[in-house]
Amino acid sequence: MKVTIVGAGNVGASCAEYIAQKQIASKVVLLDIKEGFAEGKALDLFQTATTLGFNTSITGVTNDYSATAGSDVVVITSGVPRKPGMTREELIGINAGIVQKVSESILKNSPEAFIVVVSNPMDTMTYLALKATGLPKNRIIGMGGALDSSRFKTYLSLALDKPVNDIQGMVIGGHGDTTMIPLTRLASYNGAPVSQYLDTPTLEKVAADTMVGGATLTKLLGTSAWYAPGASVAFLVDSILNDYKRMIPCSVLLEGEYGLNDLCIGVPCIIGAQGIESIVDVNLNEEEKALLNASAEKVRAMNAALNDIL
Ligand code: 2OP
Repeated sequence: MKVTIVGAGNVGASCAEYIAQKQIASKVVLLDIKEGFAEGKALDLFQTATTLGFNTSITGVTNDYSATAGSDVVVITSGVPRKPGMTREELIGINAGIVQKVSESILKNSPEAFIVVVSNPMDTMTYLALKATGLPKNRIIGMGGALDSSRFKTYLSLALDKPVNDIQGMVIGGHGDTTMIPLTRLASYNGAPVSQYLDTPTLEKVAADTMVGGATLTKLLGTSAWYAPGASVAFLVDSILNDYKRMIPCSVLLEGEYGLNDLCIGVPCIIGAQGIESIVDVNLNEEEKALLNASAEKVRAMNAALNDIL
C-alpha cells in the first residue's frame, strides 16, 4: 500500500514517521514545494528504518506529483500553519488556493485515492477538496475530530489521574476553538460515565482546555502542533488501509445526518477500506444538538469565503 503526504512540514513528517514505524503502508512518499526539503526529511526518516526495525520505504520529492502515482491514500497537510494568536480561520484565504490545486494534482495521478485533509481551517478545506474534486463523500476525510478526541481523552486522564487508554470520549463539531464539542456526557472511564468521578466545574474545564488544545500548543511552541496531529492522521490511515472500521470522529459532508446539510463537520464515522463507510448517530440530547447547530452555523460562515473560488 502506498501513502502520499503532501507537505513535509512538522505534521507531514510526523505522520510519515508513525506510518513507517507501525508499517501501516509499504511505501510513503513525502512531497513538498520547497526544493530538497521532502527529500531531506524522507532520507533522514528512512535512515531510522534499520535501528527501528521497519521496512516501509520513505521517499521525498519536490513538487513532482508523478512520484505519487497509484497512492491508496493521500494526506494533505500543505498550507500555512498557525502562528501564536492566529485562529485556524485566518488561514482560509492562503490555504484554499493551495488545497484546491493540490487535490486536483493528486487525482490526476491517483484517481482512486482516499484524501485525508489536515490543512486549516480543516472543515472548510475538507468541503473545498470535496467540491473541487467532485469525489464522493466517502473519499474525502477531514481529520480534526480524531485529533480533538485524543486531546479530550488526554485532559480527562489528567483530571481523573487515570491511565489515558482507560478513557473513552469523542469530540464532534468544527475543528475550531469555538466550534468543537467535547461530548462530556458520553465520555467514560472504562465504561463508567466520567461525571461519576469529576464535578461539573472540572468537566467544564476539561472541555474548555480541549477546545483550545491546539491554540495552547501553538502558544507554547511558536507554531502549530505536530506529534498528535501526525499520529491522528496515521490512526485514520491505519483504519482505512487495514479496514478496521474504527469509529473515529471525522469531518464529512452531511446530507441530512444530524439534521444538517451541505457542509463538512465532525461527526463519528466508521472508517474502513471504503473510507468513510457510514456516519454513526450517537443520539445527542437537546443541548448537544443546539451546540452542533451553532457550530455548523460558524463553519458555514467560513465556507462562505469559498464562494469566490467554487
Ligand atoms: C491542531 O489543532 C494542527 O489544527 C491542528 O493542532
